[in-house]
Amino acid sequence: MQNKHFYVTTPIYYVNAAPHIGHAYTTILADVLARYHRLLGVPTFFLTGTDEHGQKVQRAAEKEGMTPQQQADQTVGRFQTLWQKLDITNDDFIRTTERRHVRVVQQILQTLFDHGEIYRAEYDGGYCVPCERFYAGRELEAGTCKECGRTLEPIKESNYFFRMSAYQKWLIDYIHEHPRFIQPDSRRNETLGFLLQPLNDLCISRPKTRLSWGIELPFDHNFVTYVWFDALVNYISAIGYLADDAQFQRWWPASYHLIGKDILTTHTVYWPTMLKAMNLPMPETVFAHGWWLVGDSKMSKSSGNVVNPMDMLERYGVDPFRYFLMAEMTLGQDCSFSEEAFIRRYNADLANDLGNLLSRVMKLLTSHCAGKIPAALEKNTGADEQHLRQAVLNAATRMEECLDQMRLDLGLAAVTSSIREANRYLEKRQPWTLAKQTDHGMFDTVMYHASETLRIVSGLLYPVMPAKMRELRQVLGLGAQEPSLDQLKVWGKTVPGTPLGAMLSLFPRIQAGIATPAATVAVPTQVASQAASPAGVTLMEYADFARIQLRTATVLTAEKIEGADKLLCLQVQCGAETRRIVAGIALYYKPEELAGKTIVIVANLKPAKIRGVESQGMLLAASGNNQLRLITVDGTLPSGAVVK
Ligand code: MSP
Repeated sequence: MQNKHFYVTTPIYYVNAAPHIGHAYTTILADVLARYHRLLGVPTFFLTGTDEHGQKVQRAAEKEGMTPQQQADQTVGRFQTLWQKLDITNDDFIRTTERRHVRVVQQILQTLFDHGEIYRAEYDGGYCVPCERFYAGRELEAGTCKECGRTLEPIKESNYFFRMSAYQKWLIDYIHEHPRFIQPDSRRNETLGFLLQPLNDLCISRPKTRLSWGIELPFDHNFVTYVWFDALVNYISAIGYLADDAQFQRWWPASYHLIGKDILTTHTVYWPTMLKAMNLPMPETVFAHGWWLVGDSKMSKSSGNVVNPMDMLERYGVDPFRYFLMAEMTLGQDCSFSEEAFIRRYNADLANDLGNLLSRVMKLLTSHCAGKIPAALEKNTGADEQHLRQAVLNAATRMEECLDQMRLDLGLAAVTSSIREANRYLEKRQPWTLAKQTDHGMFDTVMYHASETLRIVSGLLYPVMPAKMRELRQVLGLGAQEPSLDQLKVWGKTVPGTPLGAMLSLFPRIQAGIATPAATVAVPTQVASQAASPAGVTLMEYADFARIQLRTATVLTAEKIEGADKLLCLQVQCGAETRRIVAGIALYYKPEELAGKTIVIVANLKPAKIRGVESQGMLLAASGNNQLRLITVDGTLPSGAVVK
């Protein structure tokens, strides 16, 4: 954890629409990580910004009757205001229309062109405007975008290409040799799966006749550069690449590029190959988190289901919202957003557990200790005290480990559980009864332990809920100074006699709209009325069998589904289609064993949700003798071949 520096980035957001919870999440996550590292004393740089060029922005501006620059200027303000409201402590904010960025992009393009890394050729393919992605070769066969499923727009024109294909072998080796480079592992496997297919060169230009809103190629004024070739460079242009060498050397390579899983390929294939061509070191980790869903669909402007973070802030305040997003999502997996889930967690963790502990401590100390924290008498500490001390100190250690493993949700769960432990401790020790005894020794000891728990907890939660924890720490007489995380691993730092601040209700309970947990849905079993053979085997008509479409499919990637020990999620190629199949084979196959295998799938099964993941088919396997083996094809056949 004690790195020489910590440089964290968010994706730079498109300015074609207002920010939503998905954007807020990545930015809050980066902020929380940056704040933890600052508390650890690690020099930290946190970058965010906006991606202002490209077709998407140009079209949005046209629709609004504005110039793209006007559209960008207007929307950038909405991001900046939101970040301010969310208490985001970014060290810089880069806009890709800024001179400092444009200059660097053009210099990089010129150098790569001079070195023969960029060449001109005819382009014939498809384009997805919302994702700003080109499709050529095999990827084009489906006719739809693999990220969002929309129909591709055909494009045929002369363009410039970056020799990305030349780096395929190097990239595969690099990923294998650097297990932390792409995280979580499932995404690493996805990129490796993608790299099983030949890598095309990357088309990096657009003729101005089609798109004028972009950075002009320095060696051909009739073209602008592809928005991704422009956008990715922000991670280095903002920290002084080709402008301020000392600053650049200080921060590069980045510790974390935080991204959503939708932009994995651009960050784990395009960006590393660009960096390699520029002779620059790779970022330490590209971490792809999952999506915030509404029901079962991704929250996005085009789906029309966005939750406006401003509404949540106004209703519930900044810190509870930050806490909810961090505690609720397991990094790497998708997570459903609902106000009911927010209220449930708020009431449980914040109003009940933490709020309760604080109000008990405040009331007891005000009534029986003249509002001061008493000293614990060593002779009065027993097993219960020891148990509590251990739980709280474990939470501090756990939080540090979880930060390193990017499992903030688990770190926060450890903190909440130590708070619950403290409440249980109070219920056991009954300080309200002890207060009536003439000897105050035990009462003082109990209250010291409860106050000390609050001190440590307030520090551990500080990066997630800075304003609320600042208030809490002032109540505890800890002053306005930021906590140092080192002090949170040591018990006994609260100075006896410290006067408490004014009584505070940090997290008042939310009364309305508490939803009951979702009911279990019973899935009706289809019972077929079919004849049984004499041997007890159910016989079917040939016509019934003929309804089942079996096809060959090639496994592209496989990954574990977290929290489901037996399930793997496979991406398979079946003819022109890519499908997702969830299969209960994790006990018998490691994900990395599967890529490249030709298997047999039931291709006409209705999609079904398994553990929140939509499975678009079923694979065939045979089991017996505690073994399970996939049905594969004897010989070579293309994917999508009919099995009969
Ligand atoms: N401009 C590009 C990124 C360039 S980075 C060099 C882009 N912008 S975006 O505005 O469309 O989205 C950026 C990021 O927002 C996503 O990768 C993701 O981090 C976040 N999210 C957008 N929708 C999301 C959800 N529904 N859930 C979680 N995060 C998602 O892509």
